[in-house]
Amino acid sequence: MTAQFKATKRVSRIRYAIRDVIEFAKKLEKTGRQITYLNIGDPVKFDFDTPEFVKTALFDAVRAGENWYGTSEGDPELREAICKKEKQVNNVDISPDDVIVTTGVSEAIFMIMAALLEEDDEILVPGPTYPPYSSYANFFQGRSIAYRTIEEEGWRPDIEDLRRKISSKTKGITIINPNNPCGAVYDRKTVRAIVDLAAENNLVILSDEIYDRIVYEEEFVSTAPIAKDYPVIGLNGFSKTYLATGWRLGYLYFYDPEGRMEQLKESVKKESRIRLCTNTPIQRAGIAALNGPQDHIKAMVEKLRRRRDYAWKRLNDIEGITCTKPHGAFYVFPKVHEIGQRWKTDMDFVLDVLEKTGVLFVHGSGFCETYGTGHFRGVFLPQIEVLEEAFNRLEEFMNKK
Ligand SMILES: Cc1ncc(COP(=O)(O)O)c(C=O)c1O
Repeated sequence: MTAQFKATKRVSRIRYAIRDVIEFAKKLEKTGRQITYLNIGDPVKFDFDTPEFVKTALFDAVRAGENWYGTSEGDPELREAICKKEKQVNNVDISPDDVIVTTGVSEAIFMIMAALLEEDDEILVPGPTYPPYSSYANFFQGRSIAYRTIEEEGWRPDIEDLRRKISSKTKGITIINPNNPCGAVYDRKTVRAIVDLAAENNLVILSDEIYDRIVYEEEFVSTAPIAKDYPVIGLNGFSKTYLATGWRLGYLYFYDPEGRMEQLKESVKKESRIRLCTNTPIQRAGIAALNGPQDHIKAMVEKLRRRRDYAWKRLNDIEGITCTKPHGAFYVFPKVHEIGQRWKTDMDFVLDVLEKTGVLFVHGSGFCETYGTGHFRGVFLPQIEVLEEAFNRLEEFMNKK
């Protein structure tokens, strides 16, 4: 090979297991195999669609010529609508000046990590976690430290473990509730305990609530109202609730009753200016989404609940697999008991399943080397017939020793 121009070490620290595994599936697809993709949390790839009135709002905005560069922090009307939604749905008191509209929650994570972490600073993330929290922390030369969540207790955060992992370098604690990949929904007491720990140690709280409206039996509680006077950075978006994953619309807010996050807020605003703005017409559609009828959410959750029940039962019926019941979001995170014996690693397991069954999952270690290893993540987004076929194949695969 000719001499290569060098890329930075910083980028080599980025991992995104959910998409990294696709390469293997694409290779198989090239040989004529049909692949069932159960790796990505994208409802729009299945039988869920962006509500018609939201699509219409986007077409209308484009036709009305709202195709200019917008305000960096986001459309003022959208920020207003976000505050209204956060108050009505989650009882969060914020004003438009506290909100920054982003190109998905993904960009919000990037911006916050950039503003929060100096070299070697630590951020606590749940183990397992949604990968950008650890990848972006590492990208900015910080360190993500996984705190244990307890599988046997529905993946509840282990508060004592969290306490032990706070060091002089810790800058913040991340909460992902409802959780991806585990589907846990944290109760008030758990959120309260995390907030108390953060307050005792003067740490910034990041609360990812992108699945706030996708819960089955447990009640979702937002972090900010529990924190009362203590500040919280909230993250949320339109991808899941409004079935618009490809539109890339999200937001972050600074809930800051005592004005302790002014510097952070100004820094993130500065970051928002350098990338000019997020998609202008899509923000207009976002206003329509928040202010319009919300009926599709109930229908979506009911449809998902049936699929969750089916997936959870089928997985637990397979010998060698156990699965905790997800109470929110649309993921299962089962444990495979023979990883370490029949398969050396969970990645080997996922690749073996892919090759023998054509079903693509994500290896658990991609979500956390310590607490995710030995598991895999799947989505229960497809219709029952598709899930049935995938689990039949998985079952047959597991039984064939
Ligand atoms: C917990 C969590 N946060 C953020 C995101 C990314 O969301 P967005 O599409 O808004 O970038 C996801 C996507 O799966 C997620 O599961």
